[in-house]
Amino acid sequence: MPMFEDEFREDERLIARERIPEDQDEASLRPSRWEEYFGQHKVKANLRIFIEAASQRGEALDHILLYGPPGLGKTTLAGIIANELGVGFRMTSGPAIDKPGDLAAVLTNLTERDVLFIDEIHRLNKSVEEVLYPAMEDYAIDIMIGKGPGARSIRLDLPRFTLIGATTRAGLLSAPLRDRFGVVNRLELYAPIDLRDILVRDAAILDVGIDPDGLDIISERSRGTPRIAIRLLKRLRDFAQVRGSGRITGEIARFGLEALEIDPVGLDATDRRIILSMARMFQGGPVGLDTLSACTGEDPVTIEDIYEPYLMQIGFVSKTPRGRILTPAAWIHLGLTPPAPASGNWQDTQLTLENGVCPDPMENGHA
Ligand SMILES: Nc1ncnc2c1ncn2[C@@H]1O[C@H](COP(=O)(O)OP(=O)(O)OP(=O)(O)O)[C@@H](O)[C@H]1O
Ligand SMILES: [Mg+2]
Repeated sequence: MPMFEDEFREDERLIARERIPEDQDEASLRPSRWEEYFGQHKVKANLRIFIEAASQRGEALDHILLYGPPGLGKTTLAGIIANELGVGFRMTSGPAIDKPGDLAAVLTNLTERDVLFIDEIHRLNKSVEEVLYPAMEDYAIDIMIGKGPGARSIRLDLPRFTLIGATTRAGLLSAPLRDRFGVVNRLELYAPIDLRDILVRDAAILDVGIDPDGLDIISERSRGTPRIAIRLLKRLRDFAQVRGSGRITGEIARFGLEALEIDPVGLDATDRRIILSMARMFQGGPVGLDTLSACTGEDPVTIEDIYEPYLMQIGFVSKTPRGRILTPAAWIHLGLTPPAPASGNWQDTQLTLENGVCPDPMENGHA
């Protein structure tokens, strides 16, 4: 059964809303079977068992929560789960469901064992979320009929379905909602070796030749994120076409990534600005998220969701109870000398803004 066939059905406006494909390529590259879904070994191994067990019993799979930074394959994974179960796949998102009635309409249109995917589930509003509780727990919803003193509530049975919720911000999920998921999976940033497998497959689909060197370079500079790997692959295909022979060689990859300002460990200009601020303004920290945000001009949520996970994965930033600190590896990457732990009291005091003013980068300089 082709995946996502329901996704753009004309008569399913609510389902289709906010789910316009970013571009044709991403849809055509999106894996629909386990064999094409690389990495995430633990999550995959467990899900395959749960799917097989549910299928053998002829039951709906337990509700699943997928969380982790954007572009790691949550939506893809939800589609594969439906595909492997051989059931229908309905897709919507937290912000797309305005009113309880909208969700009720989606739920009552499901068929037995269908997968309902709710993206950005942390953005459901409270009144909609409350409809979800009995739906998840008892496969039923309560509907109010009439108004005023004559109003009464009737209970409507729903088919047994599987809710798959995706979020980049598990911390924002309310406890009652989180507790109703039988399976909670965190997607991790990918190791370069897994990104390499993804790139091999996608290069073949995009019909672009790529050398082993090119594969290594892209997979090491994609911040552990398939979506970024795919984006870089496409951009480098352009460089190869215009500046090279059409094939992504190591040389083309290095040239292109330099032109795109992506450094050898995959940091872009914003990453570098963040760690440079930590070094110059805060002597490596510890520094609080809000302070860092104020001094770099980046939204705290963006720092936490997009930049920090990768900086932590490559060991440039670590979190302490007092705030974020820059590791010696990061100082060295910046071409600066790390402060000696004994002299710099960088573990003891959290640096915060004085009178809301960021420290002068030149004054505190190790620069
Ligand atoms: N494990 C994987 N194997 C192969 N390709 C993958 C994998 N994960 C993601 N991709 C590719 O990366 C693209 C982005 O993944 P996807 O849209 O599923 O991410 P997401 O986690 O849902 O992101 P967002 O949080 O922005 O919604 C997909 O189109 C797919 O081609
Ligand atoms: Mg998604």
